[in-house]
Amino acid sequence: MGERFIWWKHGVFYQIYPRSFMDSNGDGVGDLQGIIQRIDYLADLGVDALWISPIYPSPMADFGYDVSDYMDIHPLFGDMATFDRLLTSAHEHGLHVVLDFVPNHTSDEHPWFVESRASRQSARRSWYIWRDAKPDGSPPNNWESFFGGSAWQWDEATSQYYLHLFLEKQPDLNWRNPQVVKAMHKVLRFWLDKGVDGFRMDVVTFLIKHASFPDNPILPNPANPDRTIQEHRYDINQPEIHAHLRQFRHIFDSYPGDRVTIGETWFMNPKELVSYYGKSLDELHLPFNFITLRQPWQAQAIRQAIHSYYAALPPGAAPNFVFGNHDVHRLATRYGVENHRSVALLLLTLRGAPTIYYGDELGMQDIQVPADRLQDPVARRKPGTDEGRDPERAPMIWDSSPNAGFTPAGVQPWLPLPENYPKINVLSQRADPTSTLNFYKRLLRLRRELPVLQRGDFDFVDQVPDHVLAYTRRMVGQHLLVVINFSGATIKLDLSSLEERAEVLLSTQDLEVGTIELADLTLQPYEGLMLKLL
Ligand code: GLC
Repeated sequence: MGERFIWWKHGVFYQIYPRSFMDSNGDGVGDLQGIIQRIDYLADLGVDALWISPIYPSPMADFGYDVSDYMDIHPLFGDMATFDRLLTSAHEHGLHVVLDFVPNHTSDEHPWFVESRASRQSARRSWYIWRDAKPDGSPPNNWESFFGGSAWQWDEATSQYYLHLFLEKQPDLNWRNPQVVKAMHKVLRFWLDKGVDGFRMDVVTFLIKHASFPDNPILPNPANPDRTIQEHRYDINQPEIHAHLRQFRHIFDSYPGDRVTIGETWFMNPKELVSYYGKSLDELHLPFNFITLRQPWQAQAIRQAIHSYYAALPPGAAPNFVFGNHDVHRLATRYGVENHRSVALLLLTLRGAPTIYYGDELGMQDIQVPADRLQDPVARRKPGTDEGRDPERAPMIWDSSPNAGFTPAGVQPWLPLPENYPKINVLSQRADPTSTLNFYKRLLRLRRELPVLQRGDFDFVDQVPDHVLAYTRRMVGQHLLVVINFSGATIKLDLSSLEERAEVLLSTQDLEVGTIELADLTLQPYEGLMLKLL
């Protein structure tokens, strides 16, 4: 267990959605200078790395996930000099910086696409995926966009369809074209040369499509017998993707320091997920693990998800866990306010690199967005569904002043503030020892101080009732126990088979810590505990 501390393996990631973190120039949208202003907060919180969602020039059809220039900064967020200052400041504060790489698609306003669509003879025509219509004029196949509707958009001027697995304003690049590959490698090198510590790669499993574009199978929808769903068999997760990941990894490994490749890998099947580490661990360092995020908050379901994930991991692969991000509803909303601290306890004490989504450390909940203030294209395309992502993207709540210290009074923030911000904000929570913020800080401090939480072995404890999840973390000289009550009942446990006595290091409910007898362990409703076995 003499392994050194490797920041991306043992440290904690914190995701910043830059539009919503801190607005320094009063336009209602967060920016890079805003992040610089709040860097002390992030360092003090006790995280190790920042992952910043896209900051590049973009028409913002998908809020930055539609890039029109990969090697510049959107003026809304600042300029390259501000970015350089942010990188320096983060590094000076001991924080690594991970950017978002959006390789599957560009904006339709990217000069590459503008040129590609200009004519069938354009030198960049084959940088994107163009196909003729079927004889009846319909799209080349049945592929659906992940944001709804056909994935093919008809281009009147050149009489062909182009592929977009997301919005029609996000045409898919053709990764079978070596020129595209070369151009995107250049992008990675540009930022790595600047000293960026890594990339989270957006929908990286989508890059390669089946060479002959067959129809996807249509399956019955288990959730709704009147409807069908499309199995994404031919548009994503194609075997040829792995060669590209190895090339990415080769680039990253040629740089000094530990640079990290993270992938947005939405697989529920652990075997499929872990294939993205590569056969010789030569692909992604961290294929994001969303398996636990998709489970109901039930001890057995969560246990099974953790177990099957760990069991599938190839030897030497670094595990990771994600419970919240900018695409899913807020953690405190999904799991309930009574449980969200236990989710944090789980996230930060499992074996694997955790990612915290900004604001979850305050227990922020989903906001209600009135119809006339909807921003997310998904919300607008799928009205009446629960799929819109605005609710989890509310501005960060720094204090109780008008606009929560996110943007000056009188300015309309790009999304509404959470209604309860006058009570629940960074400033108020700082002053309250029982706050969620202080709970996270204690948890993060323990994780930093106790190498067993970063590197120790993990074992489930079996002799607990159904509504309890318990596990130990162990390394030479350090033995911890985590116990979480998923029910609203008080539960008494006898865990004396592990040890006689333990010291409570942290509780989701109480500040009180002390020594207890493990033969007589009481868990309050929904309580989670971290204990040190004595
Ligand atoms: C990823 C991003 C999401 C975006 C989509 C298309 O899933 O996380 O926010 O809309 O890719 O780029």
